[in-house]
Amino acid sequence: MSKIIISNISELSSAAKQLVKSFEGQRVVAFYGEMGAGKTTLIKAICEELGVMSAISSPTYSIVNEYMSAKGVKIYHFDFYRLKNVGEAYDLGYEDYFYSKAYCFIEWPEKIQELMPLEYDKVTITKDGESRIVTF
Ligand SMILES: Nc1ncnc2c1ncn2[C@@H]1O[C@H](COP(=O)(O)OP(=O)(O)OP(=O)(O)O)[C@@H](O)[C@H]1O
Ligand SMILES: [Mg+2]
Repeated sequence: MSKIIISNISELSSAAKQLVKSFEGQRVVAFYGEMGAGKTTLIKAICEELGVMSAISSPTYSIVNEYMSAKGVKIYHFDFYRLKNVGEAYDLGYEDYFYSKAYCFIEWPEKIQELMPLEYDKVTITKDGESRIVTF
């Protein structure tokens, strides 16, 4: 397990760089952390690190947002917070996303724990005052 302390928002991009390196071949990454921990913010920095040019926002109205990395790899950013049951994930066609070659960055994976693939990376963010501790 590695740990990065982000004590200032300016340190986000170097943290994102380290995380992208750690993913290696793994494309499905679950982001754990309480509300407001900084999951969306970190995912946004990771997407920037992967060269996404288009505006990246929290998928507030949709469960999944799609982006394209500079290398032409698709990125799906999920926020399952508002999911009422796993049936909604089936309706969404989650398997098509998770078992594609795309990156899948998942907020609130707890909501679909039973649907997570056998192998995925885990990133946990905790708040420590104004700092964020990222373990992966
Ligand atoms: N590394 C950081 N350092 C300082 N502030 C941060 C950091 N990461 C996030 N924040 C701030 O914390 C707030 C919440 O961040 P964010 O929306 O990313 O949290 P979240 O974990 O995605 O929350 P939710 O569970 O509601 O989706 C934002 O105002 C953001 O600017
Ligand atoms: Mg969020």
